[in-house]
Amino acid sequence: MADTNKVIIFDTTLRDGEQSPGASMTIDEKLRIAFQLEKMNVDVMEAGFPIASIGDFEAVKKIAQTIKGPQIAGLARANDQDIDRAWEALKYAGDRGRIHTFIATSDIHMKHKLRMSEDEVVDTAVKAVKRAASYTPNVEFSAEDAVRTRLPFLARVIEAVIDAGATTVNIPDTVGYTMPSEYYAIITYLKENVANIDKAVISVHCHNDLGLAVANSLAAVGAGAGQVECTINGIGERAGNCSLEEVVMGLRTRQDLMPFSTGIVTEHIYSTSRLLTTITGIVVQPNKAIVGANAFAHEAGIHQHGVLMEKTTYEIMTPESIGLTQNKLVLGKHSGRHAFNQRLGDLGYDLNKDDLQKAFVRFKALADIKKEIFDEDLDAIVADEIIRVPEKYKLLEMNVSSGSFAVPTATVQMEVDGEVKKTAVIGDGPVDATFKAVKELVGTDVHLLHFSVAAITGGTDAQGECTVRLEFDGREQLGQGAHPDIIVAAAKAYINALNKIASLQKRTPVDL
Ligand code: KIV
Ligand code: ZN
Repeated sequence: MADTNKVIIFDTTLRDGEQSPGASMTIDEKLRIAFQLEKMNVDVMEAGFPIASIGDFEAVKKIAQTIKGPQIAGLARANDQDIDRAWEALKYAGDRGRIHTFIATSDIHMKHKLRMSEDEVVDTAVKAVKRAASYTPNVEFSAEDAVRTRLPFLARVIEAVIDAGATTVNIPDTVGYTMPSEYYAIITYLKENVANIDKAVISVHCHNDLGLAVANSLAAVGAGAGQVECTINGIGERAGNCSLEEVVMGLRTRQDLMPFSTGIVTEHIYSTSRLLTTITGIVVQPNKAIVGANAFAHEAGIHQHGVLMEKTTYEIMTPESIGLTQNKLVLGKHSGRHAFNQRLGDLGYDLNKDDLQKAFVRFKALADIKKEIFDEDLDAIVADEIIRVPEKYKLLEMNVSSGSFAVPTATVQMEVDGEVKKTAVIGDGPVDATFKAVKELVGTDVHLLHFSVAAITGGTDAQGECTVRLEFDGREQLGQGAHPDIIVAAAKAYINALNKIASLQKRTPVDL
């Protein structure tokens, strides 16, 4: 018998999360996240939207071939071509493969986007689910913009797709519009008005436009939803999706109010969050619940005193429960390979022997110029040295002169497609000159949207971490670079974004 108190965690970091501006990931990067999600024991991971691009197809296929525990889902619009393509990628997961098909059901979407009548939408949804069910019994149907759909029509669609073979029915708040009491009422309505509702799991999928995605998801669980769709760090379209760590820790912490369990190994939450930040460059705000840098920091004296006397005075959950170890080991130039490997392992990085060696060499070089190496430095080393897209463009040498009197000039030498090239360019400042020089050598028409620099840790010997956001061909891409010299870090970030642009497959536009 199914455990009615178990909430299925459906992670969509690799699909809806990847739709965050600048979050496009390469196949290797997606696979790294997938391994981490597997360790965390998510029930389902949505690996991508196979028809969207060759890259997406290959990523879903690779994940379906490689990941062993969780179910693997792939998104498909409600048409034969999308569904066939999705199964082509998912079939490697066997009975763990899930086709997730969707069509919009709200008046506003049916009229302006689909230009379809209610009957046509029901018909299309049923045909799509039947086609998906011809491949696998594991079929999820989503009524896009369900929250703004007329309830009797929503009930009609849901009943029809369950009859056609859907085993999970998702009720998305696509535009982040609902409120907890309303969402509770919608789920309750469906339970009371869809005759065959017991034959499927009700799923919820909330966007965070009003900052209510987690609250809405929890309200829906209270009303009887059995699956929550969410992403690590809450990344996703616009304001993002329901955050996995918040919903899971909410359920874990308030067992008294909500006696539901998830299968998540919460001790892997923190390292998964860090890995995602390292890969995408999308930083977590310091005051973000659960995984923000300040989430377990007690600043006010009265709070510190209270926590020292008795932790539960101000702590509703322990840092250890999300894998945040208290003993922040600081490494230095005398630290050996064993301590280094151990710390990387504690931070959730599963590196093979070669990668460990590369990272260790880089660590030693940094330790020569920086007294203390913190976790954040190790993240930067792993990001720079290991989680690196293939380098079509490589920075070889650079020199920049600037100051209150000099004309800022950057001399940059790079390897571009195997050919060594050099140029010297003047600019409005040292960073501007550097970016212009790189752009000239690479010859790609990118547009700089954003540039920021931060010290990774405190102290004047801290590494500078630069982030750039470039726009190319209508898409955005983030790049990161770290170095004790911030102008070198800026060049590395710019080149990293260019390499990501070069290695991501062009996507065929899909009309969501
Ligand atoms: O937000 C949404 O409606 C979606 C669906 C495709 C499930 O992402
Ligand atoms: Zn969504």
